[in-house]
Amino acid sequence: MITETERLYLREITQEDYPVIAKILQDDVAMFAYNGAFSDEAVAQWFDNLMTQYQTRGFSLWAVVLKENDQVIGQCGLTLQQVDNETVTEIGYLFDRDYWHQGYAIEAAQACKTYAFDVLGVSRVYSIIRDNNIASMNVAIRNGMTVRTKFIKTYRGIEMPHFAFAVDRS
Ligand SMILES: CC(C)(COP(=O)(O)OP(=O)(O)OC[C@H]1O[C@@H](n2cnc3c(N)ncnc32)[C@H](O)[C@@H]1OP(=O)(O)O)[C@@H](O)C(=O)NCCC(=O)NCCS
Repeated sequence: MITETERLYLREITQEDYPVIAKILQDDVAMFAYNGAFSDEAVAQWFDNLMTQYQTRGFSLWAVVLKENDQVIGQCGLTLQQVDNETVTEIGYLFDRDYWHQGYAIEAAQACKTYAFDVLGVSRVYSIIRDNNIASMNVAIRNGMTVRTKFIKTYRGIEMPHFAFAVDRS
């Protein structure tokens, strides 16, 4: 286990989680900020990246699991991203739509913030969010973040304005 909250625990994603991870990544509604559902190939690549990052860095997106029934309900964790030519630590989150609007994302994101500060020892942690993704911005705001900069990210060949939210270790 990586970390836990009142209702959740976070652990590394394994091959057994492939179906639920694919369900999230291939949901057109959940993936609107990524310009729609992933292909089977893109899901496989996402999965390979997770495994590589666990091995090389020791962290990446983790499985978010409900304590009450051991059900995987989403992915949340820490990755390295580029903001203004600087490599930063980002809290990312993608949840199964069946589990939205219950406060699980903010609960997991807060735990990742604590992990970034206390275990990785970073002094600032970001969430990088496309400008149309209000639900994600609300998670960032509830996580104590403010907007630091706006920039264009080219993703899947499309230029997408993004906000870099961040919070500093106090
Ligand atoms: C971004 C995402 C994780 C946010 O999920 P979410 O369910 O809106 O966020 P939370 O789990 O924090 O839930 C917050 C909501 O639960 C409600 N809630 C219910 N019980 C709660 C509780 N115990 N604690 C906190 N909030 C609670 C809040 O009032 C809030 O309601 P609202 O949706 O009407 O604003 C989700 O929309 C998602 O997976 N999107 C697709 C992937 C994506 O875009 N990821 C971000 C990329 S930058």
